[in-house]
Amino acid sequence: MFGIYIHWPFCLSKCPYCDFNSHVAKTINHADWRNAYGKELSYSATRTPDHLVSSIYFGGGTPSLMEPETVRFIIDEIQKNWRMANDVEITLEANPTSIEQQKFRDFKEAGINRVSVGVQALNDKDLTFLGRQHNAFEARKALDIAFETFEKVNFDLIYARPHQTPQAWEAELRKALSLAKAGHLSLYQLTIEQGTAFETMYKRGDFSIPDEELGGELYEMTGQIAADFGLEPYEVSNYARQGEESRHNLTYWRYEDYAGIGPGAHGRLTLNGQKFATRAHRAPQIWLEKVFKDGHGYHPDLPVSQEDRFVECLLMGLRLKEGIPVSKLETEGGADWRAFLNEKKMEQLERDGYLCLTDHHLSTSGAGRQRLNKILQDILK
Ligand SMILES: C[S@@+](CC[C@H](N)C(=O)[O-])C[C@H]1O[C@@H](n2cnc3c(N)ncnc32)[C@H](O)[C@@H]1O
Ligand code: SF4
Repeated sequence: MFGIYIHWPFCLSKCPYCDFNSHVAKTINHADWRNAYGKELSYSATRTPDHLVSSIYFGGGTPSLMEPETVRFIIDEIQKNWRMANDVEITLEANPTSIEQQKFRDFKEAGINRVSVGVQALNDKDLTFLGRQHNAFEARKALDIAFETFEKVNFDLIYARPHQTPQAWEAELRKALSLAKAGHLSLYQLTIEQGTAFETMYKRGDFSIPDEELGGELYEMTGQIAADFGLEPYEVSNYARQGEESRHNLTYWRYEDYAGIGPGAHGRLTLNGQKFATRAHRAPQIWLEKVFKDGHGYHPDLPVSQEDRFVECLLMGLRLKEGIPVSKLETEGGADWRAFLNEKKMEQLERDGYLCLTDHHLSTSGAGRQRLNKILQDILK
């Protein structure tokens, strides 16, 4: 698997919970951005000529604000520069305002075959609280158009919101699942991120969010309700019908190579047997200027040590229900990969039903995935 991630860093407004690399710009020179993506793609292709592209992902920011012509240009450039898998998955994140709904058909014609719609909530009060530009009616309309237009549709919801009771979440999630015959859902619990407007408000006591116990209850309920609708919890926050798992995100979780294109994008590339971490300049204007000067917007590559490869592989792979093949742990951590782990803690967690290690796989149980951060802290030396 080899994925290409394209970061579009602009949004109509900044949501108060969001710490992604997203900015509100007065004007955007779309032709300049198009050319810059083209340059960074050619640069990346010269480094990875033997990689076969299995997925492309337009993320952001709000990539549905891109001109469809730019999306088409980027897909064409990728096709010119790399070999492509026959069944390449090409996803675009879309916000459900009316501006974007009208563009869905153009995105499809540009080559997009999967959309991920940022619905976030299905009631207007919570959408206002989350600072979103759309209302529940627009969200439902956007989903209808997305289902008519694309083979594969995901939508995101944020739950564990202030004052959200299990009953209210259950009703909302059931409504969401029956509204749309989605094959994939991303369901995230609201987190308070550093440097966001919500952090200031939260610290000031303007609102509270569910504690760990209620969060756990909401999480379990979410898995059960998704299962009622035939969606399997295949990753900590992702639920899919069999065969509809996000191929692009599986690339990250299975710790395969991916190129990150655009401001702030990260990548992991194996070049002559050595894994490298790539990282582009975060500020959109600085990235753009650097691309026009040097042909790419990257900081110097960082080689990833064997221990870091193992740790990264573990952090990613234990998010997945399928877990990590032992052969992969050996590839990333070497024959002696067990030396990176605290054996006693591992055994305890296995006895408690959170972890499972067989001759072939290391994996977490549902309860393990719910407290994954704690488990990782425990088992890594
Ligand atoms: C890159 S963001 C969003 C893409 C798109 N611009 C949007 O807003 O829908 C990907 C997803 O992360 C989730 N997310 C971002 N910040 C979050 C937070 N603090 N807590 C929970 N979920 C969050 C949202 O569901 C969001 O759709
Ligand atoms: S949540 Fe999405 S729309 Fe809102 S600021 Fe972040 S990237 Fe932009």
